[in-house]
Amino acid sequence: MTTLAARIGALAETSSLPDHGPIADGEARFAVEQFALTANNVTYAVHGEDFAYWRFFPAPEGHGIVPVWGFGRVIESRADGIDVGSRWFGYWPMGAQAVLRPVAISAHGFTDGAAHRAALPPIYNRYAPASSAWGIDAVQCLFRPLYATSFLIDALMATRPVDTLLLSSASSKTALGVAQLARGRNQVVGLTSAANRDFCLATGYYDQVFSYDEIGGVPGQTIAFIDFAGNGDVRLDVHSLLDGRLAESHVVGDTHWQQPNAAKLPGPAPQLFFAPTVGQNRIAEWGPAGYEARLNAAWTGFAATLGWLRVEHVHGADVVAAAWKGLVEGRIDPAVGIVASL
Ligand SMILES: NC(=O)c1ccc[n+]([C@@H]2O[C@H](COP(=O)([O-])OP(=O)(O)OC[C@H]3O[C@@H](n4cnc5c(N)ncnc54)[C@H](OP(=O)(O)O)[C@@H]3O)[C@@H](O)[C@H]2O)c1
Repeated sequence: MTTLAARIGALAETSSLPDHGPIADGEARFAVEQFALTANNVTYAVHGEDFAYWRFFPAPEGHGIVPVWGFGRVIESRADGIDVGSRWFGYWPMGAQAVLRPVAISAHGFTDGAAHRAALPPIYNRYAPASSAWGIDAVQCLFRPLYATSFLIDALMATRPVDTLLLSSASSKTALGVAQLARGRNQVVGLTSAANRDFCLATGYYDQVFSYDEIGGVPGQTIAFIDFAGNGDVRLDVHSLLDGRLAESHVVGDTHWQQPNAAKLPGPAPQLFFAPTVGQNRIAEWGPAGYEARLNAAWTGFAATLGWLRVEHVHGADVVAAAWKGLVEGRIDPAVGIVASL
């Protein structure tokens, strides 16, 4: 039984923390059964301080527990309405166990009412009963949160007066979801590493795919750049080489954390896209049921196209720590979805 904590300042390095001690009244202990590891988790760690991701699961000074998405099963409960054996989808520590304080319990789920999470975005604090509606468990771990972001980005882009969407880190799961939804409405162009170009083309989601050294060849008269990578050099090239045709620039991800972003960019100022805030606004606009119905319809269409995905299960502290290190160091096969357990 262990929890992995990343070293702040050297995120690829992890150490094992002991699990939580006895639980108190109102708390429940969960076995974290399985969770996904993708570049998104690296972004959580990179922004552990400034976006407060370290505050979900507090760790000793100098360390951060990386939040992950997946399934947990109740193994001990002192919380009314939370039964031993019940399974939940949500946000967990990268560990074998989690102790939560379930409140606002209903047929739709519960909220972790732990005091240290009270000021954090509510979307991360909510746990849903396990269900097969989103497909098999591994696919849910990998895509359920990322695809909600893809869907929200596409919904925003559908309202923008642009002819072309240009997506960096085009091979990432979140970018692929946007490309599949937007193709046909916009010209969808991917930017990726040379090694991932063929993969992106083979998915069939993109009209054209360019490598990071071919940015000058990107077509389109009014282009919206959606930056999933946050690589300062790529962002500067896009803004410089497409100046005059670049209509808007959105920042979604920040996994290329070793490269600082250029302070001053030509063209439109980049706007931060933060899915939890945009999601809450959409739920307010469409109502919870309207939001769910639109998201589920989009997901059903995308899920039918996932023939390219190879799920890889990794198990045990050493193996999961190695998978995390590979992710932080950018050694990622985009066709693989890592699903981990400790
Ligand atoms: N703002 C939000 O609310 C929000 C929500 C969800 C996701 N995101 C962001 O979207 C991005 C994609 O996440 P994902 O989980 O979908 O990714 P993923 O499927 O794990 O993405 C893998 C791809 O990302 C690129 N990449 C990732 N980390 C890298 C690194 N350290 N060095 C070099 N290349 C790296 C590579 O693509 P290329 O070769 O194509 O560059 C790689 O093939 C992340 O930055 C994530 O944080 C943001």
